[in-house]
Order: sequence, then structure tokens, then C-alpha cells
Amino acid sequence: MSASPALAAPLEPITNDVHDTCGKLRGSMTSLERRVATDAARAAGQLLKSELAGSRRIAYKGSPTNLVTEMDARVEELIVGRLRAAFPNDAVLGEESGARTGRSGRRWIIDPLDGTTNYAHGFPVFGVSIGLESAGRIELGVIYDPNLDELFVAERGHGATVNDHPLSVSTTSTLDESLLVTEFPYDIREGGDNNLKEYSALSLRARAVRRLGSAVLDLAWLACGRLDGYWELRLAPWDVAAGSLLVEAAGGRVTNLTGGALDLDAPSLVATNGHIHSPVLDVLWEVRGGTP
Ligand code: IPD
Ligand code: CA
Ligand code: CA
Repeated sequence: MSASPALAAPLEPITNDVHDTCGKLRGSMTSLERRVATDAARAAGQLLKSELAGSRRIAYKGSPTNLVTEMDARVEELIVGRLRAAFPNDAVLGEESGARTGRSGRRWIIDPLDGTTNYAHGFPVFGVSIGLESAGRIELGVIYDPNLDELFVAERGHGATVNDHPLSVSTTSTLDESLLVTEFPYDIREGGDNNLKEYSALSLRARAVRRLGSAVLDLAWLACGRLDGYWELRLAPWDVAAGSLLVEAAGGRVTNLTGGALDLDAPSLVATNGHIHSPVLDVLWEVRGGTP
């Protein structure tokens, strides 16, 4: 593990960089990592948006509901190229290209296109997610939504922002008044543990339950108070790396389905504004017992 700090020292400001100027104005640290990751996320998102109207070549990952387009790999290549050029000693875990080792003790965790099914249908709800893990903890999280041009950034210890404005979770205090979101697993047709019972139970207890089709936007929109809670049974590290830090940095709470610590390698997730966390866990317990 590297003895160096998780994020490198700030660079000299670049006077014509609008993001840098905003960073200085709000008095937060502007690390090299933050700058490279936000630039990569923006470039990736703009590329996705520019190609959204084009025709898609679709392939399937294991099941007929788990799609992948040529853009997933193309965008991941762009992001990995930039990260490897700036931080050649860091490991990388990308959804499409898998794991690359590194010597620094740090690891970039990338979902180049979260919301692939939406993207393949031209449905403009998808995002780019880049997280930086150091010594087993996420230190930096970046999520970019090119459709709303919203850049969400969290640095551990430095709060969370959307387009450089501080953000925080909602103040909704009861489940009854909450707007929740969930998603369903790609193997839903195989039956078994498919979230339908949980969806049914929480739909009757919350104000409403949405399904957006993008885990990273679920987390980003929870972090900025548009949603009060989110649960999902089975996710991957790249779905939650950046967003889990974003929610915590915005004052929310993130656990597994039984209230234990989030396992980044095999995440099951409950993320809320904190106030409704126990009530959501209680309903999940009623439906699932102690099944993690
Ligand atoms: C998926 C989306 C979906 C969620 C899945 C994810 P992908 O990511 O976030 O909403 O339910 O668990 O795998 O495949 O679009 O990157
Ligand atoms: Ca994903
Ligand atoms: Ca993806």
C-alpha cells in the first residue's frame, strides 16, 4: 500500500479552467485526480450524448435482458486511457475491460455507461461513474449526467457538489412521505430473489417508488435530495463506488440490506437520507428476514 496521501497535492491553478476557478471560489481542494476524473467523465458523457441518436449494435451479456452496446467499450477506453496516462501506477477496474493491476495501492473503478438499456433505446437517463479507491476506501467519486449536464463530485472529507454547488440529501423524515427508487436484476426472468416482493411491500409504504434504470443516477439524485431512498439487491463495484461516497458526503447513509457495511466487491445496497434508513431496513427485514 502506498504511504503517500490518497490524493496528490493540488497543482498550480490553470487560469483559463472554469472548473478550477469555481473550485478556488468555494475554497475546496482541487486535486489532480479530481481534475483528470471530472474531465474524463465529461468527455465520456459528451461522447455518449453525441452518439445517442445513432443506430446501436447491441450484444447480450449472459441474459436477454443484459445489453451492451459498442459505446460501452468505446467510452471505457477513453476514460481508462486518460486515467492510465495521468496515473500509470494505479490499478483500474472497468466494467467492460476488467481489472488492470497497479503498484500504487490505489484503484480506479469505472462504469463508462450506467443505464445501458436506457441508452440502447434512446431513453436519455444514463450516466458515467468514476470512483477512486485507496487503502480499501473510496476517496473520490465522480458521476456525470450528460443529458442534464450535471457533474456530481465527492471527495472524502470535502463534501459533495453538483456543478460546483454544495449538495445535501433531503430532510424527509417518514417513509410515508418518501420518494424511493429501486432497480431489478438482469436475471429477473429466472425468478428467485428478484426484488418483486420488496418492490410491492415498499410501494405500499412509501409515497411512491420509481425505477430509473441507472444505479449511478439513483445515487446521485438521492445525494442531491430528489430521492429519499434507494435499495437494490445485487450490484457491481462500478455501480456503487462513486455514488456511495457521494451519498455519504451529502449527509446520507449507505449500508447493505440488513444494515451492515456495504461490501464494495459484491454490493447489495440500501442508501437513504438517513432519517428513513431504519424504516426501509425494517420493511426489507419483514419481507426477506435476514437474507443479506
Ligand atoms: C445497471 C443499471 C441498472 C441496475 C443494474 C446495473 P448497466 O448498470 O444501473 O439500473 O439495476 O444493477 O447493472 O448495466 O446499465 O451499467
Ligand atoms: Ca452499471
Ligand atoms: Ca455499464
